[in-house]
Amino acid sequence: MCGIYGYVGDQQAVDFLIDGLRRLEYRGYDSAGVAIMRPNRSINVVKRGKHKSSIKLLSKVLTNSENPGSLGIGHTRWATHGAISEVNAHPHTDPENNVAIVHNGIVENYLEIRSDLKSKGFNFVSETDSELIACLIAHEIKQGKNLFESVMNLKNCIRGNSSVIAVSVNNPKEIIGIRLGNAGGIVIGLENNSGYVSSDVSALLPNTNKITYVENGELVRLSSSSYSIYDFSGKKINRDLQKIEIDDYDIDKGNFKHHMIKEIYEQPHAIQSSFSGRVNFHSRVVDFEELTESTINIKNFNRIVLTGMGTSLNSAIYGAQIFEKMLGVQSSAENSSELRYRDPVFDEKTLLIAITQSGETADTLSAIGHFKKKSCSVISVIETLGTQASRISDCTISIRAGKEVGVAATKTLTSTMSTLFQLALYFASTHNKSSSEFLHNALNDISLLPSVISKILDSEGHIKRLAENISHSSNLLYLGRGINIATALEGALKMKEVAYIHAEGYAAGEMKHGVNALLGPDMPTVMIVPDDHLYEKNLGTINEVKARGSRTLIITDSEAEEIKELADDIIVVPRINNELSPIIFMIPLQLLAYHTACQLGLDPDRPRNLAKTVTVE
Ligand code: AGP
Repeated sequence: MCGIYGYVGDQQAVDFLIDGLRRLEYRGYDSAGVAIMRPNRSINVVKRGKHKSSIKLLSKVLTNSENPGSLGIGHTRWATHGAISEVNAHPHTDPENNVAIVHNGIVENYLEIRSDLKSKGFNFVSETDSELIACLIAHEIKQGKNLFESVMNLKNCIRGNSSVIAVSVNNPKEIIGIRLGNAGGIVIGLENNSGYVSSDVSALLPNTNKITYVENGELVRLSSSSYSIYDFSGKKINRDLQKIEIDDYDIDKGNFKHHMIKEIYEQPHAIQSSFSGRVNFHSRVVDFEELTESTINIKNFNRIVLTGMGTSLNSAIYGAQIFEKMLGVQSSAENSSELRYRDPVFDEKTLLIAITQSGETADTLSAIGHFKKKSCSVISVIETLGTQASRISDCTISIRAGKEVGVAATKTLTSTMSTLFQLALYFASTHNKSSSEFLHNALNDISLLPSVISKILDSEGHIKRLAENISHSSNLLYLGRGINIATALEGALKMKEVAYIHAEGYAAGEMKHGVNALLGPDMPTVMIVPDDHLYEKNLGTINEVKARGSRTLIITDSEAEEIKELADDIIVVPRINNELSPIIFMIPLQLLAYHTACQLGLDPDRPRNLAKTVTVE
């Protein structure tokens, strides 16, 4: 989490810093700040804290004339140590204001370092672990080291995953960066007498597409005209800038009020992109170029593990059912934050499919690392190529949804599900595990996804009205069965995340084993009821729920009268292949969460306490 950005060049730094921070805001928006090296070699720090629009506030007070300087660093924060306040906002400096740093990550031995620095005479103004980093660097400089050596020394002092960029009045023409672990990327770029450094590529793109990455265990020295990368022994690493062909990231909301609703509406197009060039509807062939070129052969595996966090974990739960059913290979979904600390019985016959739209989630990256150590093959399923997950996996598949700005995952979820479905089809067809009739029908239904989703989006008005009722609830139960358990879990997650309503997803069969005790007028339910082999079981659950006084909002693809009569409220969606139905059911659930948040006057793009990319544990 947190976004770090730096500029060094022959122009005023302020505008570059503000633009960079705006593009990194999805990584955290608790507070923001910049440090600019004045022409007289002093550091000017300006911060705004405890406000969701801190970058906007910052941009209002930061004028070039009053904040001159052509080198600066900036930060947008997602709080870990210390409350959300201006004093805890970054950049942090040492007490003499000779060093300024911005930091992404957590210093695990924070208390130890704090008391050590205290004994050396340092006093602190904030409650953060990051301020200690500025003091550690300043202390080394006082001992006669230069900025580069002092930043290098952090590797001996701090534990945990951290990315830091630092500037010093002793060295007013350079930014030094260091990466200790997987706390988040450092990307640098050079163009027209200007050097840029950022947490991610998208923030560099308006100014340059010539970039390179600083990897874990490396430092970078950046000036307006050059850069050098070093390993921790001080050895220079030759790494050229690469030209990347990613479209500039559009942070414009167009005619939509929020990114979340814009991205919900982008789903027909995103899903279409997920299969274009992969599915040939005429010849009935599914092909993944990425796999053809890699060594991944499904015949080599007797077990598939899908992993991810949050929404990506929910898509893993969906994917595991699809893979097991289509391939007949034992498949399971695992929470990455648990997986990384377990010692599971996996070997080279286990395939890991790591799902992370950002490609930067710390837990998922660690799970990948854990599996690689056990000689397992890893496919990562991500949105943005070039991110860390793709650099450490054997093979990377892009979901091609396009950049998602809203914190709540919407289009990246459905594109991931569509990609997993195609992947299962690809493996099944290349290994003769599916009949041509099955393939024919499955491809036919995939082709219908964009138009069916558009049709559901046309019923937004109805869902918005239902959200008015839901917004009065304090609790909600989401129930599903089989392939739609993941749908129930994700529906509940979306509602918690953007509308702050306590919501839980359950397998409907679980109700009698404890959850029924919660039923009653204060516990409305949202039930996912496909017209499949479990339809009658679900009717039974609806009756039981109603008999105990809970309201039922039913989301179904059945046209049957009986279900309309049973439901207190109902959303009917078009029926397609059962294995694809979770993608379809997700659309009304996303709209329901979005409109409930709006009804409650909340900003669904920036839910409290969350960030789009979670680069810390
Ligand atoms: C859901 O809306 C969240 N944004 C969150 O659960 C997210 O899916 C999770 O943090 C994992 O992110 P990733 O896909 O980038 O790894």
